[in-house]
Amino acid sequence: MKKWLIGGWMAMMVACAPKPATIPEVDAAMISKSGTSIETLQHGRRVFVSQCGRCHELIAPDAVKTSDWKLLIPGMCWNAGISKADEAAVMAYVMAAKTR
Ligand code: HEC
Repeated sequence: MKKWLIGGWMAMMVACAPKPATIPEVDAAMISKSGTSIETLQHGRRVFVSQCGRCHELIAPDAVKTSDWKLLIPGMCWNAGISKADEAAVMAYVMAAKTR
């Protein structure tokens, strides 16, 4: 990717995100807690970030109860046209990223 593109993207992220939801990066604690591979968790985060903010602001994993996520994610993935495999990765990521 060209440098100016990255620079422009960073400037845009700063300018357009007054109160960004915290969408945590995949870390070692998430991997061991979830027992899921880093590839799956990172893929789930990528799908989450790219798809789940299309119709509304991104909603942080911690902002929703586990029991609600279990109902919401399948419905939202259906809304978004996300495949079952990607849905499983999003679910794994969200569950691993929750801290409470
Ligand atoms: C096609 C548009 C669309 C996409 C894409 C989408 N959503 Fe939604 N989402 C909505 C709409 C519309 C609502 C509000 C109505 C409802 O609850 O069904 C909503 C509501 C929600 C809520 C509930 C908010 C609340 O306060 O009750 C959560 C959480 C959520 N979405 C998460 C996600 C996640 C995670 C993804 C990615 C898998 C996603 N959404 C992708 C349209 C979308």
